[in-house]
Amino acid sequence: MNNNPIGIFDSGVGGLTVWKTLLNTFENESFVYFADNNNCPYGNKTNEEITILSKAIVDFLITQKCKIIIVACNTATSAAIQKLRAEYTIPIIGIEPAIKPASILTKTGNVGVLATQGTINGGHFKNTSEKFAKNKNVITQIGYGLVKLVEENKVYSEEMEVLLRKYIQPMLAEKVDYIVLGCTHYRLLVDQIHKITGGRISLLEPSEAIAKQTEKVLSELNLLSDTSNRKTQVYTSGNSIELIEQILEQLEINEEEEIEVNRFV
Ligand code: DGL
Repeated sequence: MNNNPIGIFDSGVGGLTVWKTLLNTFENESFVYFADNNNCPYGNKTNEEITILSKAIVDFLITQKCKIIIVACNTATSAAIQKLRAEYTIPIIGIEPAIKPASILTKTGNVGVLATQGTINGGHFKNTSEKFAKNKNVITQIGYGLVKLVEENKVYSEEMEVLLRKYIQPMLAEKVDYIVLGCTHYRLLVDQIHKITGGRISLLEPSEAIAKQTEKVLSELNLLSDTSNRKTQVYTSGNSIELIEQILEQLEINEEEEIEVNRFV
């Protein structure tokens, strides 16, 4: 089972940013990435809807012989991870906004959090904020419309810039020194955000921590791969092959990397 792939999923292309960090961390691991572009965004769906979609994806990743699953979506983690862990024996790793490191690192005591409606209103985020950021000024902002624009291949559009300005300017007015990117899609917006903040604000996202955690779990279970011919299979439930190829370019994935992008039918 060691040389079986790591399964990753997201509502769309956002989780590819997590996959990129995993590629850089693991030399020998293969991946199956599932982008649920057809049902994206998840941010305004109910927990029940997201749980049903997530279970169907986990079932698919299991048929692909994945040895571990990474939920590269903050919204799906918040909505469904407990139920997934209760139902499946395969190890499942989730992702959540980096509010704890932000609370430790902030010097101004003001921290911005940009995330989806599902994540910000979810019980998980509320608990973590209360636990780790009780004495900080946390300015939360739902990133209405951002995921949709990313999925429409409009990362560098005027519309994107207008929305980001609207969401980030109030944070700057509150003198935040850290902004937590609480949605994996938003990591694709880093250039745009730096343009607005003049690069003065640090952006935090947890994919390094996810990679470390994955390494820990795989090594504890003796599941680290030992083959050097790794590859990645990407599946999209939508019509998003072109978008995915565009994002692979934006992420500057090495052209030598063996990647196959397929439509899931
Ligand atoms: N990338 C997902 C996340 O991290 C996006 C959620 C959505 O589809 O709205 O939350």
